[in-house]
Amino acid sequence: MRSILRRVTISRNFRGRAVFIGFPRTGTETMGFSADIDAVAGRIRDAEAVTVVSHIDADGIASEAILAQAIAQEGIPVTSVFVRQLEPLTMRHVPIDDTLKVFVDLGAGQQNLLEEHGLYERDAVIIDHHVAQPAGIAYQQVNGLDHGHTKLSAAGIAYFVATCLDDTNVRLAPLGVIGNVGDMMAREHCGLVGPARDIVSDGVREGTIRHVERDLNCYGLSTRPVHVCLSYCDDPYIPRISNNAQYARSFLENLDIPLREHAGRWRVWEEFSIDERRAVISGIAQQLIAHGQSVDRLFAETYYFPDEAEQTPLRNASEYATLLNACGRWAQPRIGSAVCRGDRGSAYRDAEQMLRHHRSIIRELVQFIADKGVTELSHLQYLHVGDRFPDTIVGIGAGISLSKLNWRKPIMILCYLPDDPELVKVSMRTNERMVSRGIDLQHALQIASAEVGGAGGGHAIAAGAYIPKVAEQEFADRVNRVLREQSA
Ligand code: C5P
Repeated sequence: MRSILRRVTISRNFRGRAVFIGFPRTGTETMGFSADIDAVAGRIRDAEAVTVVSHIDADGIASEAILAQAIAQEGIPVTSVFVRQLEPLTMRHVPIDDTLKVFVDLGAGQQNLLEEHGLYERDAVIIDHHVAQPAGIAYQQVNGLDHGHTKLSAAGIAYFVATCLDDTNVRLAPLGVIGNVGDMMAREHCGLVGPARDIVSDGVREGTIRHVERDLNCYGLSTRPVHVCLSYCDDPYIPRISNNAQYARSFLENLDIPLREHAGRWRVWEEFSIDERRAVISGIAQQLIAHGQSVDRLFAETYYFPDEAEQTPLRNASEYATLLNACGRWAQPRIGSAVCRGDRGSAYRDAEQMLRHHRSIIRELVQFIADKGVTELSHLQYLHVGDRFPDTIVGIGAGISLSKLNWRKPIMILCYLPDDPELVKVSMRTNERMVSRGIDLQHALQIASAEVGGAGGGHAIAAGAYIPKVAEQEFADRVNRVLREQSA
C-alpha cells in the first residue's frame, strides 16, 4: 500500500502540509482503500481537536501511539481513551465534547453504540479491521476488510493514515508492524503479506527494521535461552523437543553449540552465528522428516528493531507486542503507549514488570485449563473459569491451550466480569485449518450471543462476546449448533 501511496501525486496545501490530490490507476480495490485512507486523514486534518478511542491490546496500543503522535505533529490537540471493548458500559469513557472522535481497532462492529452515544457523522471516524455492523449513521471509515485486506490490522491502517497526514511518519513503521504481528496477521503465512508487507519495506528502507525472511518460526528469539525457545515451539510441533526443554538442551549440546556466553548468560537465537543457526535448523528439519512431518512451517519471517537494546523484549515485533499486551490487559495501556513513544525509563521498567506478571498468570491459566479439563460437545470444547482470571486474558489462555487440545474443536472460555455481575465474557479461538474449512467464530458468536440478548464480534479465528449471566448454561449449546451448521 505504501509503495502505491508513494506514487500518489503529492501537493502542499496552504499550511504547507502534504496532501494527496490524485490516485494511481492501479485497480478499484486499492484506489478505494487509498480514497478511504485519504478521506479519514482529511477529516483528522480539518479537526480542531481529536480524541483517539482505542483498544487495550497490542494492536490497539500501537494504533493509538501512531495516531496520537501523527496528530500532535500536525499541531492538533489530541487526547486518548483506551477501552477493553466498546460496549454500553465502556461508552461512558468516550467524552461528549467538540473533539473529533477517532475510533481505532474498534467501532466498526459497534456503530449502533456510537449512534446511541449521540455521535453524528461529523463527530466520529472509524479506523478498524473488524467485521462491520452498520447502523443508521454512515460514519466515515477505513476498514481493510472492505477492500479484501484480511491480513492488515488496525495499526497498519493507522500507519497509512499517519503517512497520508505527513510523509515523515514512515518513522512509525515499527509500530505498524508490531500491531500487525500482535494481532496474528503474520501467523497464517509465516510473515506479513499485502499492504502490511509494504510497512515492513518502509521500515527496512528507513533502517528501523531488520527483516529476516527465513528465520526460525519460534517465539522469544531475542530474549529466551534457545533450548527454552525450542521447547515452547508448537507450530511446527517438533517431536521430542516441543514441551521438553531438557531434551532441547541436549539436542543443542550435541551440535556443539555453546549455550552460554563467557559471563554465564544464556545465549539467545538472535546472537547465534549463521553457521550455528543453520546447524540447528537442519537438525530440527531432520527430526521433523524422520517423524514424517512437513518442514513447511519451520521458517518464518522475523522483524527485528536494530535501534532497540539487544536481549530485550523490544528487539523484535512479536516480543514487543507481548509487552504491549501485558500492559493493556493489566489495565495500563498508557504505559505501553509511553514505551511506543520512546520512553525507555520508568515506563519501560513498569512494562517489564507487567510482562513478568502477565506471563506468570497466563501460565497459571493454561495450567488451570489443563487441570480442570474442557467439556467437549460435538463441535466445541469449553470451560468456565468463573472469577479466577480476568476477562482481558482468557482469550490468550484459550489460544495457547488450544494448541495442546483437539485442534478440530474451537475452544471457548467463559468468565465473570469484576465490574458487572449480570454479564459473562466469552472468548473463543480456533486455528487457520478450521477457518479454511468454513469455521467462523465471529459469525458463531454474533448469532449465538444475539439469540440470548448479548453482543459479540471479532474475527473468524478469534472472537469474543458478552452475554447475560442468566443465559450462560444454554450458551455453549447454541454456539455448538452454529459451529455444526458451519461444518456441514
Ligand atoms: O477478548 P478476546 O481476546 O477474546 O477477543 C477476541 C477478538 O474479538 C478481538 O479482536 C476483540 O476485539 C473481538 N471482540 C469483539 N466484540 C466483543 C468481544 C471481542 O469484536 N464483544
